[in-house]
Amino acid sequence: MEVASKTILLIEDEEAHAEFVRRAFEGTGSKWEIHHVVSIKEALKWLDGNKSNPPSVIIADYLLPDGTGLEITKGATSPEEVGIPLIILTAHGSERLAVRSLKSGAMDYVVKTAEGLQELPWTVERVLREWEHIRERRRAEKELKRYVKELERANRDLDDFTSTVSHDLRAPLRSIQAFITLLMEDYADVLDETGRGYLERVKEAAERMNRQIEDLLILSRVGRKFVEVETVDLNELLEEIKEDLSARIAERKGEVVVAGKLPIISTQRVWMKELLTNLIDNGLKFNRAEKPMVEVSCEEREKAYLFKVRDNGIGIEEEHLDSIFKVFERLHPASEYEGTGAGLAICKRIVEELGGSIWVESKPGEGSTFFFSIPRESQCTS
Ligand SMILES: Nc1ncnc2c1ncn2[C@@H]1O[C@H](COP(=O)(O)OP(=O)(O)O)[C@@H](O)[C@H]1O
Ligand SMILES: [Mg+2]
Repeated sequence: MEVASKTILLIEDEEAHAEFVRRAFEGTGSKWEIHHVVSIKEALKWLDGNKSNPPSVIIADYLLPDGTGLEITKGATSPEEVGIPLIILTAHGSERLAVRSLKSGAMDYVVKTAEGLQELPWTVERVLREWEHIRERRRAEKELKRYVKELERANRDLDDFTSTVSHDLRAPLRSIQAFITLLMEDYADVLDETGRGYLERVKEAAERMNRQIEDLLILSRVGRKFVEVETVDLNELLEEIKEDLSARIAERKGEVVVAGKLPIISTQRVWMKELLTNLIDNGLKFNRAEKPMVEVSCEEREKAYLFKVRDNGIGIEEEHLDSIFKVFERLHPASEYEGTGAGLAICKRIVEELGGSIWVESKPGEGSTFFFSIPRESQCTS
């Protein structure tokens, strides 16, 4: 098979060394065409004139009359930036020079001894194989970026869809609810006990559907709605949440406590509040203790804040520890513990939007601890 000739740009000011290199390549019978120049200036000019047909490899002497061979990279720091595989030749074989060459985007480094130069053709082959790997990796990275973008778009589309459908479902639902109310008010005596019972159940189902739609709207909003990042004193936020939940706390004779002090962070206040409220509310709700207790604490780690919301409630079986974060996933009927099952899905969404993760540890009968982490920097992605 005819091998297409490939060009090497050789930048070498000593004719004897250039000749040595030429012979080394001729000796292998390979199809390399060597273009030889003697200075950086000349090399840059030639590269400029051959942009559409660049060499496969550049072999540059380190010490040249008008600078060092590394100047050919124009300040690059990686082979990708250089764009053409570069091999540096030098008489002064030193570690420092090798490191500097590699840091400047050279692919390899050859000491100008007879053996070093003789082996150049193999060095070139190896460098080209590595170069191919680098390019493949770069292609794969590009592809991956494209997939991520596509996925993000698909998620956004899904959120848009959820939002639209939820909005659209609200109108007919409102009308159903209105007519149920009319029926109950004006036709209650036309119906018998069983009929009124059915109507009551239709009403409850409609209310439930309404709550689910509201939750879906919240869920779709987490990823879409732009929310300003602000400085939030979480101690104050927690007082506010306790106030909001005061009816539930009083009714259950429960207590919400903060262990230690919570940090002041810059974050999206509404979502942080939604997140903590959901978790604390669950801790009080799924609880049969005489005195339901929820304890909130935060550990400041190097890269993230680790929050804990611990309760002395009913606990969760191991096999459900993951599934409870799915939307509308519940372990108990609404008649036992009210709710739609969207709370934790919303929590997960919020934490992920903030760049963190959420999980739970629990033992049935002994209570649960929900953990979530929030990175200390860039706490906002939307
Ligand atoms: N602190 C908790 N202790 C025990 N079970 C819990 C706790 N938090 C959540 N769960 C379980 O996870 C399910 C999903 O929770 P969530 O999404 O907040 O929905 P909801 O509160 O509307 O039921 C709950 O129905 C419950 O079975
Ligand atoms: Mg809940």
